[in-house]
Amino acid sequence: MTIEFILNNKKVKIESPAYQSLLDILRIDFNLMGTKSSCRSGECGACLVLVNRDLVNSCLYPAFKVHNKEVLTIEGLASLKEYQIYENAFTELEATNCGFCTPALIMATEGLLSHNNNPSDEEIKDALSGNICLCTGYDKILLAVKEAAKLKRKKKNVR
Ligand code: FES
Ligand code: FES
Repeated sequence: MTIEFILNNKKVKIESPAYQSLLDILRIDFNLMGTKSSCRSGECGACLVLVNRDLVNSCLYPAFKVHNKEVLTIEGLASLKEYQIYENAFTELEATNCGFCTPALIMATEGLLSHNNNPSDEEIKDALSGNICLCTGYDKILLAVKEAAKLKRKKKNVR
């Protein structure tokens, strides 16, 4: 079937079998390897992307459902100026180790902060509850998300 959608701010069109997952078309057809393939069963969150600004596990999301929608992956987010905020927050607070889960953590953070620019600890934990990190422990990740929120508010001059 033909699927047309906006991928990282560009209009794209693809022929795809009906059973194909969004994860597979991103990685195989568009070579966007920042969206990770791990459990492929909705458990780890490594494959998170934004579809119409909502977070989805792309391994479980049928590709045909993105027809006429907007998909943002870590590559698209990284091409935006404000990505520097995430990079600074996550590296300065040492919230990454092997880095495998980091793109999805940043997508989850973007999903959270686009709806809530000053989340509480509980709201951050809740927003990241679908992301499994085996390396760093969650304390540094929590701090990095709080720092990113602070930097974003500062940029917009909101306290
Ligand atoms: Fe999608 Fe784990 S690969 S949730
Ligand atoms: Fe290695 Fe999260 S940094 S799994």
